[in-house]
Amino acid sequence: MKLILLGPPGAGKGTQAKRLQERHGVAQISTGDMLRSEVAAGSDVGKRASAVMASGALVSDDIIIDMLANRVRQPDCANGFILDGFPRTVAQAEALDHMLAELKLELDAVIELKVDDAALVERIAGRFTCAKCGTSYHDTFKPTAKAGVCDVCGSTDFIRRPDDNRETVRERLDVYNRQTKPILPHYEATGRLHTLDGMASMDEVAAAIESVLATLPTDHVHLDVTEVR
Ligand code: AP5
Repeated sequence: MKLILLGPPGAGKGTQAKRLQERHGVAQISTGDMLRSEVAAGSDVGKRASAVMASGALVSDDIIIDMLANRVRQPDCANGFILDGFPRTVAQAEALDHMLAELKLELDAVIELKVDDAALVERIAGRFTCAKCGTSYHDTFKPTAKAGVCDVCGSTDFIRRPDDNRETVRERLDVYNRQTKPILPHYEATGRLHTLDGMASMDEVAAAIESVLATLPTDHVHLDVTEVR
């Protein structure tokens, strides 16, 4: 399975990518998570990306494309992958086409999650994550079962992303409309674009994604990359 999850900040890409990873044993490739790891590690890439991310703008295509090209060749991608937050520009979409052609791989589906702008701001402003295991929560839509304690690992340490504030979210939305939306016609032309209602509940969105996957040939859903390299 090789999927792209597209959508504005807070559309639910990360939430659904994690569910797909658990259900189908494919790798979740989040360029945002990869960049945040670089920032935390204080690497050169992290130093170049940090201020850009905090402003809500996009990190340069050359950094992202290099990162992605290495990532899709890792062994955990052998059973497939879900691209969460990539591509985000026409140049990234074109680079992905070249990468996949080189690896003799084809995308199975591109899933666009559509959500109203006002709802996105609420989702982002209420998001927090367990500092230990990375499980994502929301103040209203997905609170921890016991206040202040992670459901998964029991940690009491949580973080909020520095770019998850109302002002930066508006900039990120604007960037999405200007730089990312123009890639939709590229995928529409391939007949692989599926636009889903991201305003539905997390379970309903997950079910809608599974319905799309059910329409794919089974060899596309489980493909051993080692066979086609
Ligand atoms: P990135 O980390 O990719 O952030 P994003 O695209 O802005 O998306 P988010 O992670 O904020 O949202 P999401 O859609 O994953 O939503 P989630 O599932 O968490 O990028 C961050 C920055 O890195 C960018 O601004 C840029 O600077 C840089 N970057 C990354 N990739 C790049 C690239 N390719 N090129 C250049 N720069 C790049 O859900 C949000 C909240 O809503 C959660 O609390 C969740 O619990 C809740 N929620 C989810 N689904 C639902 C639902 N159905 N109903 C109710 N609540 C829901």
